[in-house]
Amino acid sequence: MTMKQIIHFLFLLCIYETTFSQKKEPFLWGVATCAYQVEGAYQTDGKGESKWDFLTNKVGITQFTIGEKQTGNVSINMYDRTQYLKDIALMKELGVNSYRMSLDWSRIIPDGTGAVNEVALKHYDILIDDLLAAGIEPFVTLYHFDFPNVLLQKGGWNNPEMGNWYSNYASVVFKRYGQKVKHFITFNEPYIEFFLVENMLNAQSNKLPANEYYMSRMQMAQRQMMTNASVIKMYHDLKLKGEIGIVLNLNPAAPWDAKKSEDVKAAEFQDVLINDLFLNPLYKGKYPKMALDSLKKYNPSFQPSDKDLAFIASQKPDFLGVNFYAPAIVKGEDSQMSLKWLDNNPDSVKSNVGPVKPEYLYKILMRLKNEYGNPKVFITENGTGFVSEDVKINGKINDPMRADYIKRHVEYALKAKKEGANLNGYMVWSGWDNFEWVSGYTKRLGLIYVDFKTQERTPKQSFYEYQKIIKSHKGL
Ligand code: NOJ
Repeated sequence: MTMKQIIHFLFLLCIYETTFSQKKEPFLWGVATCAYQVEGAYQTDGKGESKWDFLTNKVGITQFTIGEKQTGNVSINMYDRTQYLKDIALMKELGVNSYRMSLDWSRIIPDGTGAVNEVALKHYDILIDDLLAAGIEPFVTLYHFDFPNVLLQKGGWNNPEMGNWYSNYASVVFKRYGQKVKHFITFNEPYIEFFLVENMLNAQSNKLPANEYYMSRMQMAQRQMMTNASVIKMYHDLKLKGEIGIVLNLNPAAPWDAKKSEDVKAAEFQDVLINDLFLNPLYKGKYPKMALDSLKKYNPSFQPSDKDLAFIASQKPDFLGVNFYAPAIVKGEDSQMSLKWLDNNPDSVKSNVGPVKPEYLYKILMRLKNEYGNPKVFITENGTGFVSEDVKINGKINDPMRADYIKRHVEYALKAKKEGANLNGYMVWSGWDNFEWVSGYTKRLGLIYVDFKTQERTPKQSFYEYQKIIKSHKGL
């Protein structure tokens, strides 16, 4: 080739690139939080009482679980702008380009359905602007387990009106932030909300056998799925230039002992109940047969219509948020609809969030690719904690097990991406130690250690390891 031909070739290549290749969206690296777990300021700026304000302050829920009353009243003080600006600076130092956060419905519409609280709207407006100014893309979850207590007292998801109340709130949010927020999330982990948390909260009064109790929650879950679909439709009808998705906890199941047929069978059963129960209606427009059979037996009044299921499937989320911590390791005795599998952990050093098996993150991403039409996915939560290493010694927190967990999960996630899974981002739960629901402040899951008395932040070793991972994947 002559010099002239080479220049001509390069010129054509340049034209081709600019004309035909689409601008590649950068892979998003992030950290995640949720309003109730980090904001504190529980009576500030006209905030109404929320479900979790009520549960922690009035019911004293953590007394039953950790033997002490703890609340999110102060938490890690992230409602305070002086504080959160320092936290944004830490995120910049970490090198993330996205941040998953949630809005507190009880701040925005204190009584759930009535007047909108401008002060709270303004607060989130400024927070979103502060994030954007720092080059951090906000992923805004509208509902992360919490909602105004007035609505809980009216039955919450047991009340057929709940969908309308939520839709009204969602429309306020879209109108206010829809131009600048490019990623909204409707709901977080319906499985955990309806089966795990509901079960714990009602454990004292719940007289139903496990099967019946479990299945009695299905009406609520289905109502949330229908609401999810109508709110996705509402968002798309507004023709905003962003995306909306839902977050599911996915725990692919595996038998405790692969040689025992009871364990294998029970694992298959739990796998359907945990994962397919939500994935199938969303992506295939039907509930899995195995779950429907149990429903017929234990909750015969649950009969979602074909029309409703078709509607859910017609409003697919633009992306799926995957929260992955651990697989479900299942024993034969867990063949029931119950949550006993959560106690099974063969690891010798046990984490706060189940067995460490990063290959299952790869497996679930490939399963989404192969069985669910390869939806656009963001890992919206992944992380862990070990009581033994979350201690400050000489001003430092050495948490090699958390760092190793993150490293290995990222490797498996990127392996799936390389093999065609439509993975677009990865976020660690959490940036900061925070209020871990019924475990209060006893479980630390942050990359940044928080002194809950002084609010002092200290980045842990895992913070610096994650920083290196992000740096080494620039341009992904
Ligand atoms: C999932 C939930 O979304 C989050 O609120 C919780 O803190 C983490 N899991 C860790 O348990």
